[in-house]
Amino acid sequence: MASIAMFARTICKNALGNNKTLTSRYMQVVRCMSSGKFEYIITEKRGEKKNVGFVKLNRPKALNALCDGLMKEVSQALDEFELDKDIGCIVLTGGDRAFAAGADIKEMLEREYAQVYGGNFLNHWSRLASCEKPVIAAVNGYALGGGCEIAMMCDIIYAGEKAQFGQPEITLGTIPGAGGTQRLTKAIGKSKAMELVLTANRMSAQEAEKSGLVSKVFPVDEVVNEAVKTAEKIASFSKITVAMCKEAVNASYEMSLNEGLHFEKRTFHSTFATNDRKEGMTAFIDKRTPEFTDS
Ligand code: CAA
Repeated sequence: MASIAMFARTICKNALGNNKTLTSRYMQVVRCMSSGKFEYIITEKRGEKKNVGFVKLNRPKALNALCDGLMKEVSQALDEFELDKDIGCIVLTGGDRAFAAGADIKEMLEREYAQVYGGNFLNHWSRLASCEKPVIAAVNGYALGGGCEIAMMCDIIYAGEKAQFGQPEITLGTIPGAGGTQRLTKAIGKSKAMELVLTANRMSAQEAEKSGLVSKVFPVDEVVNEAVKTAEKIASFSKITVAMCKEAVNASYEMSLNEGLHFEKRTFHSTFATNDRKEGMTAFIDKRTPEFTDS
């Protein structure tokens, strides 16, 4: 372990020079890869080709309440899967009873304004939204508060038929702090988002699908496998093209229509600089399966 860490530190220093932030991020990844264990999550590689990064929130007694430690481990797992060239897509899931019941209320109870403002509390959660590889949320049970918010940070949400989505922060005298007023409104529109945020009512999986929050609903014991199957399909494509698709769709949230269309067109043009675009079109003409090289 000590020699792996020393070796990694030397590589980081050579590759990254004096960039302390990046070096420390890489060292965190190396530490958790070396120990192979997380406290609050389980990670593994899934799929026939082991090209799907699988992250399961695993704090069942607290219904996967998102304590700091858990969210830091999720960030570390994403760091690890992002660096892994074999991984083409990631699945994030929880348990049958709860995907996640929100930020950890017991941990938040004694916090003061200066502390949460000064420490920019919840800022590190956005690691999930900035993941370069696609992430599919496979949601069973409660996805409440921060649980709903981290599902919405993912690129696709699949739900088990008993899943429930909601933003109950108002019952705690606070408001959603990780996207519940923003991503939810963009996903399901103002009236439905207002209703969930202002009343703490929950939305069923079926309604979430109808509203566009969720792309598909499956029986409870099938949702994870279905998410992995979709992840395997995504992982079979060129990783460069997949990253471009993800970036272009996400750009639509930030840009005007004309800016977005321009960004899309230029990104489309840039696929012509890749070997995978050539290979994809050649394989079509040759009537064979393309062999992408992520180049
Ligand atoms: N934080 C800390 N602990 C939590 C938790 C949370 N968000 N949600 C559940 N738990 C704990 C409970 O305290 C309980 O622990 P103990 O056994 O030690 O008492 C355990 O998980 C089981 O929970 P319940 O006994 O309450 O289970 P239930 O089946 O009766 O109810 C529930 C389930 C409806 C999900 C209920 O637990 C609940 O309402 N949880 C809180 C949901 C919530 O308000 N989430 C928003 C949090 S704030 C937030 O997320 C802000 C943000 O934007 C980031």
